[in-house]
Amino acid sequence: MEMVRWDDSLSVQIEEIDEQHKQLLGLMNDLFDAMKKGEGRSVLEKTLDGLLEYTEYHFSAEEKYMREFDYDEYEQHKNEHDALREEVLHYRNQLTSDRVTLDLLGFLWNWIQTHVKQTDKRYAPFFQEKGLK
Ligand SMILES: [Fe+2]
Ligand SMILES: [Fe+2]
Repeated sequence: MEMVRWDDSLSVQIEEIDEQHKQLLGLMNDLFDAMKKGEGRSVLEKTLDGLLEYTEYHFSAEEKYMREFDYDEYEQHKNEHDALREEVLHYRNQLTSDRVTLDLLGFLWNWIQTHVKQTDKRYAPFFQEKGLK
């Protein structure tokens, strides 16, 4: 069973970014599966490294377009990215445990609801107007 499943409510209607958001869901589902099988701890470290890598390329991609198109919510959007970057580093530096795994999954779930579904969606019409699809 998947913890989070992709559906249209998550789409920003821009293929490159939707693909990257799907990778985040993939990381969460892998971690959730591992936790259910009692392998959460060993997979947690790998997931956190994957997340750090993900924040690098995904946030860089979004931020690059925002700067390129002179998006007026850039600063505010980037602050949310920076907060997630820091939070992931914070998790990465903790001793791994099931408690940490659950906390992290809850945190990422919340990120999808508040950032991907809201903050990211706010740039969608603007990016599309600039020609991204
Ligand atoms: Fe995003
Ligand atoms: Fe974003």
